[in-house]
Amino acid sequence: MRIDPWSSSQFDDYTRLRDEFGIEEFNFPDLPNPHRLFRRGVIFGHRGFQLIMDAIKFNKPWCILTGLAPSGKMHIGHKMTIDQVLYFQSIGAEVFLAVADIEALGVRGMPLEKGREIAINEYMLNYIALGLKPEKCQIYFQSKREAVKDLAYLMGNKTNWSEMRAIYGFTDSTNMTHVFAPLVQVGDILHVQLEKYGGPRPTLVPVGVDQDPHMRLTRNLAFSFRIFNVTETKDGKIGIFVKPDDRVDELLDQAESIVKTQGYADYKKIPNYKALYLDGAVKEDISKIDEALIPVERRYGGYGFFSPASTYHRFMSGLTSGKMSSSAGAEASIFLSDAPEVGAKKVMTAKTGGGVSKEDHMKNGGKPNECTVFEMLLYHFLDDDNELDRIYNDCKSGSWFCGSCKKLVSEKVFEFLKELHDKREHAKEVLDQYIRDD
Ligand code: TRP
Repeated sequence: MRIDPWSSSQFDDYTRLRDEFGIEEFNFPDLPNPHRLFRRGVIFGHRGFQLIMDAIKFNKPWCILTGLAPSGKMHIGHKMTIDQVLYFQSIGAEVFLAVADIEALGVRGMPLEKGREIAINEYMLNYIALGLKPEKCQIYFQSKREAVKDLAYLMGNKTNWSEMRAIYGFTDSTNMTHVFAPLVQVGDILHVQLEKYGGPRPTLVPVGVDQDPHMRLTRNLAFSFRIFNVTETKDGKIGIFVKPDDRVDELLDQAESIVKTQGYADYKKIPNYKALYLDGAVKEDISKIDEALIPVERRYGGYGFFSPASTYHRFMSGLTSGKMSSSAGAEASIFLSDAPEVGAKKVMTAKTGGGVSKEDHMKNGGKPNECTVFEMLLYHFLDDDNELDRIYNDCKSGSWFCGSCKKLVSEKVFEFLKELHDKREHAKEVLDQYIRDD
């Protein structure tokens, strides 16, 4: 099985996906005031989120970065990543938003200028209208940011063609801008840890699971550029290993002084193995030790990247069938630019999990788990968990009917789109506060 970030495949079995690709189950009950997407298991998986959790807990700087390929219209499925951004911004994260105009050019032949226009009108204005704050926040374009492109070239130097083909299924006829696009995305994700953009710190990338191949590539490359490797050995010891072959003694001395200040007294330095073994350390100490070594790496000319973390959300179903996507046809998606009446009407014709007749529904109940209208409440339009439970149970028991449910959701969609429209008008005036081209 391979995940293709550029096809619009449906993923039904998220547990299997998680197991197959080594994505971990998202289970962080300590998140402060968790957003409904977390409370309701819509965010089903993660890589490396513990680093972010610790940063939140101990009030350390961290940032969130995500990106958008400006190709079609923004729909409420896209809203899930920005909802996470807004939530994390509200608890102190710094925000970076990448406009993937190089990717759109490579994958869809979208001219850069057109990409810019779509990004602004379809995405950014909506992000701002949804509540994105300008403080500690920047939106940038891949094609304009030197640091991103430079990193992409550098990362390309440690990536070969057979690896790219294996991950992405590229063929002889794939165009080179497309081939380069994943490396630009790696540049997006890692450049925020360059000095100019705030230096090494934990970075969270909230995405749909279709983006996981990019995360695997990025995490591997971030690690490739590290000087030290802190890991558990086969016999259960924690070791710090020096990766390069030069200045090994010096680097081990540096590591030694770090572990001493961290209070480890029992350790063995074995220069022949380019290693320092810690007797008193356990697996849970690894990230703390690793973090403490980052400043050393920076002094030695390394990047000292923290491995970027990711969260994965489920995809919304299309209102008529399939996955909600810009290409699935206008009836399948609620676009943020839909007129309120249009959005409201789409709800009225959406596929539900109701019985085939009123009698059937009363007798056998509905299937909220297979209902696109219920999904809208679950993901976006009903924040009250008790109320959601009530609707779920009443639907299942057959006492709550599709007609009333659609009416309720359609009114909510109408209100939401109407308010958003007004806020978008205001967003145009403040847009400049968000965009940063350098
Ligand atoms: N590839 C992403 C998409 O198709 C867009 C993207 C570009 C992105 N750079 C990113 C996503 C960095 C997350 C992080 O939607």
